[in-house]
Amino acid sequence: MIAEKTIDQAIQALFKDIEFQAQPEGLYDPLRYMIAIGGKRIRPKLCLTTYGIYADQLTPEILEPAAGLEVFHTFTLIHDDIMDRSPLRRGHETVWTKWSEDTAILSGDVMCIDAYKRMAKAPAAVLPEVLQLFSKTASEVCDGQQMDMDFEKRSTVGMNEYMQMIGLKTGVLIACAAQLGALIAGADVRSQECLYEYGYYLGLAFQVADDYLDAYGDQKVFGKPIGGDILNGKKSWLTVKALELGAGGLEEALAAPAVSPEEKAAKIARVMAIYDRVGIADAARKAIGDLSTRAIFKGTDAGMGADGHQALSCFAHSLVGRTV
Ligand code: IPE
Ligand code: IPE
Ligand code: MG
Ligand code: MG
Ligand code: MG
Repeated sequence: MIAEKTIDQAIQALFKDIEFQAQPEGLYDPLRYMIAIGGKRIRPKLCLTTYGIYADQLTPEILEPAAGLEVFHTFTLIHDDIMDRSPLRRGHETVWTKWSEDTAILSGDVMCIDAYKRMAKAPAAVLPEVLQLFSKTASEVCDGQQMDMDFEKRSTVGMNEYMQMIGLKTGVLIACAAQLGALIAGADVRSQECLYEYGYYLGLAFQVADDYLDAYGDQKVFGKPIGGDILNGKKSWLTVKALELGAGGLEEALAAPAVSPEEKAAKIARVMAIYDRVGIADAARKAIGDLSTRAIFKGTDAGMGADGHQALSCFAHSLVGRTV
C-alpha cells in the first residue's frame, strides 16, 4: 500500500517537471500553459491510488501512464472549450481565446499523441491490455462529446440517454484511470473490472456535480463561467431532471437567444428560477450522493484489504464532497 501523502507528492512533482518538445513554440506552449494553470489532477491521482493498493513502489512505468491520463484529459478540455465556446478554464483564458481556434485544434491533436507516448511506457508485460483499454476509452470520449453536441439541438432528452452520454464523455476516462492502476500493478482481472465500475459510477457522480456547479457553483472555485451550460442550451442533469419533473417554460427559456451581457444574465436568471421552482439543487445533490454511494459499493467487490477499501471511499468523498 502506498500512502496518500506519497501519491500527492509524486503528482506534484510529475506535473511540475513534465516536459514537452521545445519547438515549435507555437505548437507546444499551449500544452505547457494548460498543465501549468493547474486542475485537480483527479485521473492520475485515482490511477496511482488503485495502483498503490496493490503495489509498494512508484516507478516511471506507472507514473508515465498516469501522466498520460492527465495529458489526454487536458487535450479533451482544449477541444471541448472550442466546442462549448468557453472563455475560461481553470480560472484562466482558454487556449482558443488566448491563441486561436487553429492553435487549439493542432495543440490539442499533438497533446493527444503525447498522451499515447506516455501510455506506451507501461510495463511490456501489460502493454497490449493498456493500449487496448486506453484506445477504447479515448474513442468512447469522442462518442460522448458528439452526443453532448447533438443533444444541444434537441428540445428534450431523457434521463437514460443523458446518463449514457455522460458515461461516455466523462465516466469512461475515470473508469479507465481506476482500472489502469490495478492493471499495471498486476491485480487480477475481476478486481480490475470492479475498479472500472467504481470509476465509472464515480465519473457519473462527478459529471452531475460539474453540471450542478455550472449553475450553483462559485466561479472563483469552479474556474469556469457560471451559467455557461444554460447559455449553450446544454442538456445538463439539471435540465433533464427539470424536464422530467414537467417544469413549465423550460424549453422556451433555454432556446431564447441571448447576445448582450444583460440578455445573457436575464436568460440565466430565468432558467435558474425554473430550476428553483422544482427544487433541482436538492435533487442534484441527492443524485450525486447516490451515484457516489453506488461507486463505493461496486468497489467493495474488488479483492483488497480494509485499507484499500478505505482509500476508495476517501477518494470518492474527496471528489464529490464539495457538492454533497
Ligand atoms: C472537467 O474536468 C471536465 C469534466 C469531466 C467535468 P475536471 O473538473 O477534472 O477539470 P480539471 O482538470 O480539474 O480542470
Ligand atoms: C466535458 O464536459 C467532458 C470532456 C471534456 C470530455 P463539460 O463540457 O461539461 O466540461 P467543462 O464543464 O467544460 O469542464
Ligand atoms: Mg462540453
Ligand atoms: Mg465544456
Ligand atoms: Mg461542465
